[in-house]
Amino acid sequence: MATPRAQWSGRLGFVLAAAGSAIGLGNLWKFPYITLENQGGAFVLVYLAAIAVVGAPIMAAEIILGRRSRRNPVGAFGLLSEGKPGGRAWKGVGYLGVVAGFVILSYYSMIAGWTIRYILLAFSGSLGELAHSPESLEAFFGSFLANPGAQVLFHTLFMGATVAVVFFGVGRGIERAAKLLMPILFVILMILAVYSITTPGFGRALSFLFRPNFADLSASSVLEALGHSFFTLSLGLGSMLTYGSYMRRRDSIPRSTLTICALDTLIAIMACLIMFSIIFSFDFEVSKSSTILFTTIPVIFFKLPGGAVICGLFYLLVSFAALSSTISILEVVASFAIDELGWHRRRAAVTTGVAIWLFGILSALSVGGVQTLSSFNPIGRPSTLGVFGTLDYLASNWFLPVGGLFIALFTGWILTREETRDELEEGNGRLGWSFGIWRFMLRFAAPAAVGAIIVSVLLGAEYQ
Ligand code: TRP
Repeated sequence: MATPRAQWSGRLGFVLAAAGSAIGLGNLWKFPYITLENQGGAFVLVYLAAIAVVGAPIMAAEIILGRRSRRNPVGAFGLLSEGKPGGRAWKGVGYLGVVAGFVILSYYSMIAGWTIRYILLAFSGSLGELAHSPESLEAFFGSFLANPGAQVLFHTLFMGATVAVVFFGVGRGIERAAKLLMPILFVILMILAVYSITTPGFGRALSFLFRPNFADLSASSVLEALGHSFFTLSLGLGSMLTYGSYMRRRDSIPRSTLTICALDTLIAIMACLIMFSIIFSFDFEVSKSSTILFTTIPVIFFKLPGGAVICGLFYLLVSFAALSSTISILEVVASFAIDELGWHRRRAAVTTGVAIWLFGILSALSVGGVQTLSSFNPIGRPSTLGVFGTLDYLASNWFLPVGGLFIALFTGWILTREETRDELEEGNGRLGWSFGIWRFMLRFAAPAAVGAIIVSVLLGAEYQ
């Protein structure tokens, strides 16, 4: 492996690829419905605080580990822990990340596949007929979930697109895809945002999001906001670490981190404004909230003039956002195979992609198609949705927080003050007091907050 490690062509390439990783179903599907469930206002404020106090410091930590080691997560922990307390045991954190990536991608691709079905449905005009009533749309969605052939087909299409991008590598694959997809995504979002301002519900959406009422805030909302800040920023499994390993030394880690966090937050808030403006305009009763993206949103879009086009654009936006995220998860697993097993990139992309695709079929069949998989519930949680629900529970509640905790502890306590300061100042210039604040948050605030999530999950609280 004499070839030097690939690099992004510049700061923009890195920032767009990393923002592409962060911006995904977490922003467009999950954040709106958990914000509705948690009564907006105060929840949004806690979420913003979680991004600032826990998310941003850990993102910088991941990028430091990647750029300093120029390796995948397993290699990074192996290299940077040499001669340090704990030694090679730290590689376990990297392995946890690779496994988490494998698991998360397997079902994320299934959900992302649903958006392809809805793009086709919107542009072909048939969504318009279904969207006359929420009942017919719910019936359609239910039968779509229960159709094994359709589930496997769209999961396959989405994994295929993901593998195709990773196959072409960092510059010609990932960076090129990000530079194409992200600007289109911003434009579609702007069109929809301007549109939402003209709807009568916009004012109510604004006050729902930004007028906090702390009486609405429960302990579980706080934990949910914290947990979500991890997922939405792609933290805990090494996506940011791996992307950081391709970063040029002359680019600034602190500035890139702030830009990525700001973009991710902006998109999440805009997604809420768009959806809530329209929902509130029609005084709509939002039922099963985790599926609003597929059952409620079309009904509402189709009440507007030009509904088919707007709705089609909207699902296109969601699928682009999801694709730039799935790429960043496959890249973790593929770069592990490339660095640690010595495989060529093409072989790594295809082999790991096919393995994840095969595993994902279990989830795709578990959302309604195959009874034994839908009732699979080894953990015994009441609301678990078969294989898919179990894997999501394990990954979001355990793998990501535990991974994030160890990333924070390693960077804050095992690397020296000088090592981390050097890396943050490289390409940035001298950091004053802000370095001290960052290090404090990484050493104390982030572990305490993530520790609280883990303890609450241990005690059986349900925060996802
Ligand atoms: N952040 C993405 C989203 O919001 C998903 C994602 C990509 C992710 N890479 C990740 C989540 C790594 C956790 C860890 O949809």
